[in-house]
Amino acid sequence: MIGSETIIMGKESPKIAVLGAGVVGSTVAKILQEQVRNVDITIIADNFREETVSAVAAGIFRPSTSFRGATAEITKRWINNSWYFWQDILKSSESAQAGVISFGTYIFSKENYHNTRNHLIEDLVPIYRAVDENELKICGEGWKYGSYFNTVKIGCDNYLPWVERSFVANGGKVVQKYINSFSSLPEYDLVFNCTGLGAKYLCNDHDLVPIRGQIFKVKAPWLKTAFYGDYDTYIIPGHDGVATLGGVRQYNSYNRDVCKYDAAAIMERCVQLLPALKNAEVVAQKVGLRPHRVPVRVEREIIDRVKVVHCYGHGGYGVTCAPGTAIDAVNIGLDLLRSNSKSKL
Ligand SMILES: Cc1cc2nc3c(=O)[nH]c(=O)nc-3n(C[C@H](O)[C@H](O)[C@H](O)COP(=O)(O)OP(=O)(O)OC[C@H]3O[C@@H](n4cnc5c(N)ncnc54)[C@H](O)[C@@H]3O)c2cc1C
Ligand SMILES: *[C@@H]1O[C@H](CO)[C@@H](O)[C@H](O)[C@H]1NC(C)=O
Ligand SMILES: *[C@@H]1O[C@H](CO)[C@@H](O)[C@H](O)[C@H]1NC(C)=O
Repeated sequence: MIGSETIIMGKESPKIAVLGAGVVGSTVAKILQEQVRNVDITIIADNFREETVSAVAAGIFRPSTSFRGATAEITKRWINNSWYFWQDILKSSESAQAGVISFGTYIFSKENYHNTRNHLIEDLVPIYRAVDENELKICGEGWKYGSYFNTVKIGCDNYLPWVERSFVANGGKVVQKYINSFSSLPEYDLVFNCTGLGAKYLCNDHDLVPIRGQIFKVKAPWLKTAFYGDYDTYIIPGHDGVATLGGVRQYNSYNRDVCKYDAAAIMERCVQLLPALKNAEVVAQKVGLRPHRVPVRVEREIIDRVKVVHCYGHGGYGVTCAPGTAIDAVNIGLDLLRSNSKSKL
């Protein structure tokens, strides 16, 4: 593959572990495998596919200002690289299997014009414009401000198994295991820490906090456009005819159970935004704890002599920005490997 390199020329290929099989760990593993030859890569996680927080996400590409890297420049690079990573999949013949689709999105607000703007992506997406008077009436009465833009959505229920299949087909290994500490990983030359909120428990990262989310999955095959309203109200179509309705954003809540009051509020707000949803069949209700950290942590650390590259804390924007952070994490990791095995190169 163009751009791939052989890292180690000796007999022994380096052993690399990617901890975490959510959208971040899976994307790190994919990019790593595409970049290097002759390395032995294992994904280790206690939860896979539909058991991850990633699988709860609607997966729409729409970062907000609470998603931050160490500097504005880094944040911008992550968002830009992520956008093009998803565009490449969208334009490929694999887009359906990977769960990547594109659609138009309306954001309406009764309260604030700025809620409908997004300076992080206005120059990136193909269309981002103010709505006209007629469009303000699409979703019933009372909307004062609105924008329309084009974006992509990544359905992790497809993306995660799609990555896993090709990763295994290309020689990657997958192990289901809960990791208590680094001492259980001594055989690896490099470890990527993509454990999301799990990083909080592995040791104590006090900067990492959960932001609880809750959603409905409903059958709405007719829905081809996404809609946002005030108070974290959103309606996002899915490629399989199943739409995601949300949501809530509860800071520092660890409750993993569906809350009936949240459910009632979400449904009421969504039906108000789009009355056609009134009788839509509910397929599932889910809760996820977004791993929020400012800034998102993408950096190296040597822990108990193990070379670690952290990549966690993506909050509500891990699907959007997994690729950009993963590209940086992989570069940091490969530099670490090279600098510590000069004799082998
Ligand atoms: C309701 C809701 C809606 C959302 N909507 C969007 C959206 O539209 N767009 C968007 O970009 N983002 C969205 N998000 C945010 C997104 O889901 C997260 O940012 C993203 O899933 C984080 O991915 P991750 O890979 O870091 O974590 P996870 O998906 O949680 O994966 C963590 C992995 O690490 C493993 N792990 C953790 N600890 C250990 C351990 N000690 N040993 C072994 N394995 C371990 C887990 O088993 C798992 O495989 C939403 C989230 C919620 C809850
Ligand atoms: C955005 O990313 C693409 C692809 O990764 C790259 O070619 C381009 O130079 C980047 N643009 C900016 C402004 O960083
Ligand atoms: C992942 O990062 C967290 C936070 O720094 C740390 O506590 C944990 O030990 C790390 N785990 C691994 C295996 O890298």
